[in-house]
This record gives sequence, C-alpha cells and structure tokens, in this order.
Amino acid sequence: MKLDKGILKEIFLDGSARIECPPELIPAPGQYLLAHAPASDSPVADSVFFSTSSPNGFVAAAPIPNSWTPGASLNLRGPLGHGFTIPTAARKIALLAFDDSPARLQGLIPLALKQGAEVVLLSDSLARDLPEVVEVQPLQAMPEILHWADFAAIDAARENLNQLREMMGEGNQARARCEAQVLIRTQMPCGALAECGVCAVVVHHQWKMACKDGPVFDWKELL
Ligand code: FES
Repeated sequence: MKLDKGILKEIFLDGSARIECPPELIPAPGQYLLAHAPASDSPVADSVFFSTSSPNGFVAAAPIPNSWTPGASLNLRGPLGHGFTIPTAARKIALLAFDDSPARLQGLIPLALKQGAEVVLLSDSLARDLPEVVEVQPLQAMPEILHWADFAAIDAARENLNQLREMMGEGNQARARCEAQVLIRTQMPCGALAECGVCAVVVHHQWKMACKDGPVFDWKELL
C-alpha cells in the first residue's frame, strides 16, 4: 500500500476517468484506491476501481465524484483490499454485472483471455471497448450462463446481496454450480484506517469489513 499523487487526465462520457499515477498504485481488478482531490470541497476520500488499462495509469470505473475536473491533482492511497483471483484452471468465465455497469469487471477480460478462457459478460448496461471475442448476454440469461461457466466474477451493491442470494442460492434457477467471487460495492470512506464500520457486511454470520476483508468475497462465504 502506497501514498502518492495522481492526476485526473480525462473524463469520458460514461463517467469513467483516466488517471495517471505511479504503476505501483494501479489497483488489480476488484481492488481499489482511496482518492481525494484537495482542491474539491469533499471532506472524505472516494474509492476508485480499476476498469481498463491506459498509458501511465488506468481508467477508473464510473462514477467518479462530480467535483473532480480534468487536470485535478489527486492524493491516492492503495491499492487496497482483496481483488478477484481467477482460478488458473478456469476456461469458461462469466462476468456478471448484477445491478450496475460492467466496468469494474472489465479488467478481468485480458487476464481471462490470456489463460485461454472463453468469456461471457452478463449485463443490462452497455460496456465500452469490449474485445470482439467477448459474448454479451442480458441478465435474464443468468441461469443458462451460470450453468455453463466454471468461474463467475460478480459485481453487486451491498443492498442487493439478498436479491442475488435469492437468485443464485440453493434450489434456485440460477444457482451457481461453479466457483464464484463477488465484488460488494459499498461506501468505504476510511479504507480500514479508522475502523469506521460503514462498510460492514455479514459473512458466515459474522461482521466483516468490505474495505479490508473484501471488497471481493468468495460467494460461498456469503450464502
Ligand atoms: S471503510 Fe471504514 S472500516 Fe471499512
């Protein structure tokens, strides 16, 4: 984990942003940085997730704070948390953007293709810069695609976890037979520094902190 400066170079129409920063700060897919623009009026740092690579930095998934403008200097801390780990044997990979854009999952695509896997993206939102080899399906194809996959990476908001459990739990149509990991999106204002508890998640009937124990969790832990 490092502290350093970055620069917000460009904001795209979809709300994602290109950030230049030292290479050791670039988060892996599922990890995050805490970023604060000192010139903004925001009192707290925001969590920023990797979406795709870009020269001298990375493209951060939308949304970024409204107060950030191109050219802004950013104080960065990270990379923080546990990201996704694709099993080396996985050859059929489903990326499931449950309730938002698939941007936080897109960084897994080059890693999956590199190990010779087929990739299906399940999303009801548009994704930018997708390789042609990636098949895109609507969320209603979840049962079929989760049946096909041998690994699934999922992005879901904490408040929608129960809905995800209902759809993918034991006995349900979209039950995940494969190994799966879930990026739980929630506010992470202190990034484990102050143990504020804002990011708490119930895992195996215990409270865990998404900021340091996650934000990516094994699906089995969440059932
Ligand atoms: S963000 Fe404060 S404990 Fe997780």
